[in-house]
Amino acid sequence: MALSKATAKKMKTPPPADGPKHVAIIMDGNGRWATQRGKPRLFGHQAGAKRVRQTVSACPDLGVKYLTIFAFSTENWKRTQTEVSGLMALFRRYIQREASYLQRLGARVRFIGDRAKLDKKLQTLMQYLEDLTSDNDHVHLTIALNYGSRDEVTRATQRLAVEVAEGRLRPDQVDSETLATFLDTYVLPDPDLVIRTSGEARISNFLLWQSAYAEYEFIDTQWPDFTPDVFEAVVRRYGKRERRFGAVPS
Ligand code: FPP
Repeated sequence: MALSKATAKKMKTPPPADGPKHVAIIMDGNGRWATQRGKPRLFGHQAGAKRVRQTVSACPDLGVKYLTIFAFSTENWKRTQTEVSGLMALFRRYIQREASYLQRLGARVRFIGDRAKLDKKLQTLMQYLEDLTSDNDHVHLTIALNYGSRDEVTRATQRLAVEVAEGRLRPDQVDSETLATFLDTYVLPDPDLVIRTSGEARISNFLLWQSAYAEYEFIDTQWPDFTPDVFEAVVRRYGKRERRFGAVPS
């Protein structure tokens, strides 16, 4: 018997075989989305924050265990004072409002980036959310806040240099695996797929080291329009790609 369209939609399609385990997203296009609607840029960021919840929730059904999102870069301080302080307030509210939902979902939340430069109240909330969710394993959400790859590698190198200078590490012991343990992402697997929304084809200092062999998807959808259906379509496209990691096809 043929299924009705509605029944078929309600049935869970199995996660794509060979789908990405770690997806990283550059959530771009909030400002343009708002401007096109005659609204201030912060309206777009608020709409973007709502998409974060839906995107995290969609991960388990898509077989995505790790989701890393770029919320604020080390370069974003160059935006107007109004936008920066509006974004910081949005991050604080996001943690306050979403903590119990993320906990119920079984999400383990981590933050990467230089948190020392963020305001103290936000730092306290970040620590609270990390502690609250530290035993969860259903999905791993990493939020990059005041994050930039060059800054991360610089901070890692400084700490590594101290280890060498104080004799705990010999220079010849420094290989790429050792260096990776000093990065903010040391507990995470490398991303399999990096998505950037809004039609720009740039990496913008995001996970440069970790994405050396990632697949990239630059899609036209603006972040506030990034529905779970769009997410699923991108994840399924990934399954059709052949990853070679520098080798020849078998
Ligand atoms: C880029 O769009 C987006 C940002 C710099 C901020 C990303 C923040 C959010 C999606 C808000 C919610 C996040 C969390 C974790 C609560 P843009 O402003 O550069 O857009 P434009 O290129 O159209 O100007």
